[in-house]
Amino acid sequence: MPELVTPTETLHASWLAALAEWPAGAHQDGGGLRLAPGGDLADPAVFAEWVDTLRRQADTSVAVGEGRVHATHWWIVEGDDYVGAIDLRHYLNDVLLDLGGHIGYSVRPSFRRRGVATWALGAVLPEARALGLERVLVTCDDGNTASARTVERNGGVLEDVRSTPAGVKRRYWIAL
Ligand SMILES: CC(C)(COP(=O)(O)OP(=O)(O)OC[C@H]1O[C@@H](n2cnc3c(N)ncnc32)[C@H](O)[C@@H]1OP(=O)(O)O)[C@@H](O)C(=O)NCCC(=O)NCCS
Repeated sequence: MPELVTPTETLHASWLAALAEWPAGAHQDGGGLRLAPGGDLADPAVFAEWVDTLRRQADTSVAVGEGRVHATHWWIVEGDDYVGAIDLRHYLNDVLLDLGGHIGYSVRPSFRRRGVATWALGAVLPEARALGLERVLVTCDDGNTASARTVERNGGVLEDVRSTPAGVKRRYWIAL
C-alpha cells in the first residue's frame, strides 16, 4: 500500500536506485529536481540540502524564487521503497495556467502500471481542498496516455488541447 511522505534524507539509497531507472537527464514531473543545488545528489550533504529546499517550498512565510510558486512536495513510498513523487502548487502563475497546472507527478519505471499514480493524485486532491482550492488544473503532454488516464480516473474534465511553448498539452480541471 503506497503512502505520501514529506521528502526525507532517510530515503537517499532508494531514491538513488529509482534515479538509476530513469534515462539520463530525464525530467521527473513533480520531482523538484530543478530545485537541486549544483553538485552530485549521491553526496549525502547535497541530497540533504535539496530535500530541505523541497520541504521549504511549502512555507508561505518564506519567499520562493523568481517565477516559482509555493508548493508542497511529497514522495510516494511503499515500505522502504521510494516509488515516485507528486507536488501541489498552491496557486497558478501565467505559465502554470497555460501549461503546468497545479499538480505534477512521476512514478519510477519499475513501479508503473500498478495504479500508483492514480492513487497518488487521488490522495493529493483533499490536500488541495484543504488549501482552499475549489478546482485544480492538471496537464499532460497530448501523447501521454498514462497521465491522461490518471487524470481522467480522478475526475478530470478536459478543457482544451493547446499548443504551448512546452508542446501540445491536454488541460484538465478536477472539481474538488
Ligand atoms: C504517467 C505515470 C505517472 C503513470 O504512472 P503509473 O503509476 O504507471 O499509472 P497508473 O498505474 O496509475 O495507470 C494510470 C492509467 O494509465 C494507464 N497506463 C499506464 N501506463 C500506460 C502506458 N504506458 N500506456 C498506456 N496506458 C498506460 C493505466 O492502464 C491506467 O489506466 P486505466 O485506469 O484506464 O487502466 C508514469 O508513467 C510516469 O511517471 N511517467 C513519466 C512522467 C510523467 O509522464 N508524468 C506525468 C506528467 S503530466
